[in-house]
Amino acid sequence: MAPSDIDMNLQGPVQPLQQEENEHIFRYTQTIKLKNALEKAGRDFRSDVVTVPTEGMMQAIIDASVGDDIYDPEGDASVNALQDKLIELSGKEAALWTLSGTMGNQICLRTHLTQPPHTVLLDHRAHVQCWESGALPVFSQAAVTQVHPKNGVHLTLEDVKRNMIADGNKNTLSGTILPLKDAKEISDFVRNFPVPADQKPIAMHLDGARLFDAVAAEGVDIKEYCACFDSISFCLAKGVGAPMGSVIVGNKRFIERAKWFRKMFGGGTRQVLKLLLSTMPGMMAAAASAALDYTLHRLFAVHAMTARVAKEFELMGYKFALPVQTNMIVLDLEVVGIPGAAFVGYCKDNEVTVFPNERLVFHHQTSSDGVSRLLKALAQLIRDKVAGADLMDHKVTGGYT
Ligand SMILES: Cc1ncc(COP(=O)(O)O)c(C=O)c1O
Repeated sequence: MAPSDIDMNLQGPVQPLQQEENEHIFRYTQTIKLKNALEKAGRDFRSDVVTVPTEGMMQAIIDASVGDDIYDPEGDASVNALQDKLIELSGKEAALWTLSGTMGNQICLRTHLTQPPHTVLLDHRAHVQCWESGALPVFSQAAVTQVHPKNGVHLTLEDVKRNMIADGNKNTLSGTILPLKDAKEISDFVRNFPVPADQKPIAMHLDGARLFDAVAAEGVDIKEYCACFDSISFCLAKGVGAPMGSVIVGNKRFIERAKWFRKMFGGGTRQVLKLLLSTMPGMMAAAASAALDYTLHRLFAVHAMTARVAKEFELMGYKFALPVQTNMIVLDLEVVGIPGAAFVGYCKDNEVTVFPNERLVFHHQTSSDGVSRLLKALAQLIRDKVAGADLMDHKVTGGYT
């Protein structure tokens, strides 16, 4: 093609697209790259963020709307459709798409917290405190009250009462659930906590990165759960399996103010990637919507698979650091005298990817081949341990030896 042909195409008259609503312009077929990535994800137990897009998600990306989520007053249609889905699921008034779980959490906290001094009460292992690169004190200038749950698993009203100054929670936490009953008790107490007349009532924020897992496993109503909190951040790129993104929900006033902070944090999205006929926010939101449709009812099977594998581990003689309630198994290797390096090494020998932190995460693309390899690796490991083998014990930091 000569350069002049390209110019002609760019400057020529725009041909109106003769396309029926819901008709695909292009039909996506799975590429070899995606097939290979899917096979790899099937035996990767580091996290549920390792999934790859399904064919439905890729098709949704191709079919996504083409709006600009900042300039267009009505927003982007695919982003709006995703936000509406979360409003429907959570029972909240409004929702806002964010680029990541961290961004969603920090926007919510910043939106609640207006003027220092203020404090966030949270579980000492909370992601917003431990794993968000110090964002909380930087963005919100908040002090933190870290609470160690007395039951070792989740916060209770008793814990909150003993440490009460302000807000903050997380569900699930290392795969364990904060039960609805406890969330309700804490919420009732916190929301009725007397504050001086010139101060805002204490707010309840939930890091609901894996709330879909929690409510599915506990068998409770998601709207009833969400009603305990003023804001919730849902990750769509964890167990739901979307390529990226989170959605925060709350009342209309809260989301209006949150939109302002999203812009401030650099999270307003435009036509970042003009590709085919699509734009980035719409593409990613459409993929996330397709992910929700595809994955939510599959979480039960993921949890059942996790429980089955945990049972096998138990029979082999392994112990757990936390109860297995959703899609994670947290082994306690120390009590059985197995070093992290040996755990990673035996898994690697069986082409299974794990972190040395003893946490195994299952997702909707975990394959039966991946599970067989994992069981084989851990069976061999404990057999060798019992037989007195000299297990490797060097320092390991990543997912590989
Ligand atoms: C419980 C929890 N909250 C928040 C996040 C942050 O999500 P992101 O990595 O999308 O920023 C994570 C990420 O692993 C998480 O596990």
